[in-house]
Amino acid sequence: MGKSINEPDYIWHNGRHIRWAEAQVHILSVGVQFGSSVFEGIRCYRTDAGPAIFRLREHLRRLHDSCRIYRIDLPYSIDALERACIDLVAANGLEDCYLRPMVMRGYGDMGMAAIGNPIETYIASWQWGSYLDQSEADRGIHVCVSSWNRPAPNTFPALAKSAGHYNNATLIKLDAIAGGFAEAIALSPDGMVSEGSGQNIFAVRDGVLITPPVEGSILSGITRSAVMEIAAALGIPVRESAFPREFLYIADELFFTGTATEIAPIGAVDHIRIGDGRIGPVTERLRAAFQDVVRGRVKDRKNWLTPVRAGMREDIDG
Ligand SMILES: Cc1ncc(COP(=O)(O)O)c(C=O)c1O
Repeated sequence: MGKSINEPDYIWHNGRHIRWAEAQVHILSVGVQFGSSVFEGIRCYRTDAGPAIFRLREHLRRLHDSCRIYRIDLPYSIDALERACIDLVAANGLEDCYLRPMVMRGYGDMGMAAIGNPIETYIASWQWGSYLDQSEADRGIHVCVSSWNRPAPNTFPALAKSAGHYNNATLIKLDAIAGGFAEAIALSPDGMVSEGSGQNIFAVRDGVLITPPVEGSILSGITRSAVMEIAAALGIPVRESAFPREFLYIADELFFTGTATEIAPIGAVDHIRIGDGRIGPVTERLRAAFQDVVRGRVKDRKNWLTPVRAGMREDIDG
């Protein structure tokens, strides 16, 4: 059994709310047969002023980008999808939750091109806690370097968040679990560090924050970019630079970032301890600052929070 979820009432499908149990697709939908589908993962946070969705428009823009890369005609604008996400969280009565917009090629022609098949757009939302076990949040998780690489840039387009790509991610994750690790770091085809199965990675060495560049076969993470901006605002130097596997072992600190993962400190890689195996000072500063932003405890200068309740904007801005 996977993790059980508390099923909310509604899922948004092509412009209307349907019951959770009604969100079914035909087994021969092309999205099911070939993974021809793109998606997003977005978090909504409870703040003192009510629920607020973090960087909603950036996620929806990436959804549009993924559709463009895969030649999917998404019939909903960013504005329309923004409204749909807000309404869904409100209709489901959720506060802290996760949103999963999906756009897939539906049932019709059986070929891979599936030109003319209906495009089905769904948005699901549910309560979802920490993705990686952070029951002891200050203890770093233990990870390995995966024997599976990330795909080469001319194979799968890493900037698209497509369901099919997650077969590679599944191999990476299962490899980690089989070895007794919580997660794995994959290398890019040229042997440099790329990212986790569903997270970007940062290293800290001598006070400088370093993360692989987008040409490193990574998903261009929205949490990654938020952390880079927060670090810059805190005066922590940030560099996007390729680095080799062994740099992981000599880093002062390592951490993952992602919407589901948030900021997760790494305590060991391939059984080599990083720092003292617990969250390091730079990671701790960034994690605290990130939580202040997403929880609306500081002024939302960059408009990263989308209020779910009307009239919340003024409260968020204090
Ligand atoms: C492969 C991969 N890399 C990185 C990330 C982190 O991206 P974001 O911070 O936008 O969630 C994710 C999660 O969506 C992912 O699946």
